[in-house]
Amino acid sequence: MTDWQQWVEKCRVVLEGNQIQSGRYRYTRPASHVYEYQWLWDSCFHAITYRWFDLEMARQELLSVVGKQVQDGADSGMIPHMNYWQPDGAPLWNVADRSIITQPPLIAIATELVDERSPAPAFLQTMYTAVSHYHNWFERRRVIDGDHLVGLIHPWEPGCDASPRWDALLGLVRPTPDQSKAARHALVQTLIAHDCDARRLAEAGSFFVKPMGYNAIRAADLEALGRIAHKLGKVAEAKKWAEKAERVKTAVFQKCVFPDGVFDLAGLSGEPIREESAQKLFLLFGGCVDRETAVSLVRDLTSERFTTAYPVTTTPTSSPNFAPDQYWRGNVWLSVNWLIYKGLKRYGFDAEATQIAQRSLALVEKHGFYEYFNPISGTGYGPALQSWSTIILDMLALETV
Ligand code: GLC
Repeated sequence: MTDWQQWVEKCRVVLEGNQIQSGRYRYTRPASHVYEYQWLWDSCFHAITYRWFDLEMARQELLSVVGKQVQDGADSGMIPHMNYWQPDGAPLWNVADRSIITQPPLIAIATELVDERSPAPAFLQTMYTAVSHYHNWFERRRVIDGDHLVGLIHPWEPGCDASPRWDALLGLVRPTPDQSKAARHALVQTLIAHDCDARRLAEAGSFFVKPMGYNAIRAADLEALGRIAHKLGKVAEAKKWAEKAERVKTAVFQKCVFPDGVFDLAGLSGEPIREESAQKLFLLFGGCVDRETAVSLVRDLTSERFTTAYPVTTTPTSSPNFAPDQYWRGNVWLSVNWLIYKGLKRYGFDAEATQIAQRSLALVEKHGFYEYFNPISGTGYGPALQSWSTIILDMLALETV
């Protein structure tokens, strides 16, 4: 077997081991026995991996993500961050079959990448309808002050829950993992009490943040949505999404890039959160920065602050909050690496992208498909067979074409 075939087989074993059927839907759990439900951005990563060896499953994965899109009420159009195909959600969310918040929007991107391998018009049309509705929801419910940036109401939404960037907003100082987790759970009650209304929550001083990385991903997703509209012959809609993407890109660049760094914006006042994170590299993924800023971001990425033995550490080694063994406080996540890899490619930093791909593969080769890793020793943490760590296959494919 070639190296490629061996990696396909390894990734297939992980993903198929986590697959589960529920009624007419089939999806892949992030990790069996630990993460039993369906998570939005995880499934997008799964679909991007599946496209190299099981296109039908890639489509199923995305169709099941939109299977519980909110159909009515104020949040109509939202795609939940969790789908509870076994309806166990009520104790936490007051809703049995889905969560009441969302996650990073990579869904048009995943749809486009899957369809690129083998066009399936009915699938594309179904996804386009759902994802258009989703992006309109963002605009209606989460852009609360006309600045084109989406605001998030819970640290589960950006997908990097326990990041030190959120501590102050949650009233925490150097929290233990349990304190941080307790704060996230308690916040759900506040969301329920405010009907998940971002404006009311922000006004009440609850968690509210406009993350630079999240909005950069959103810009890229809007671009992909525009290209899908074009493919479906919807010229006016294609133009509308492309223009919206441009506005988001400009807003991210103008509002989140400061002389001393790239930061998320907190609360109604939009104060920068001066806690650095590798998510600033997502601005390359979204095409949000000019060449000069890109060069300085890449210089920082390749310094020892972010390039550890196994890059990329989510919190820089120079931060007082750097904790290589603590969840989202300075670990390697292969989903994050993929976003950085794609951003580097977008701006033509091919050698740096290759370096990320090679080190990511070396990490999995030596330590396995863990959920996340120590950036210095490579030790794996969380479940040993985490589905989204198979995203290394996409980097390998793109390196070999
Ligand atoms: C954790 C991660 C989140 C991910 C989920 C399922 O909560 O922080 O980003 O989606 O696990 O893997």
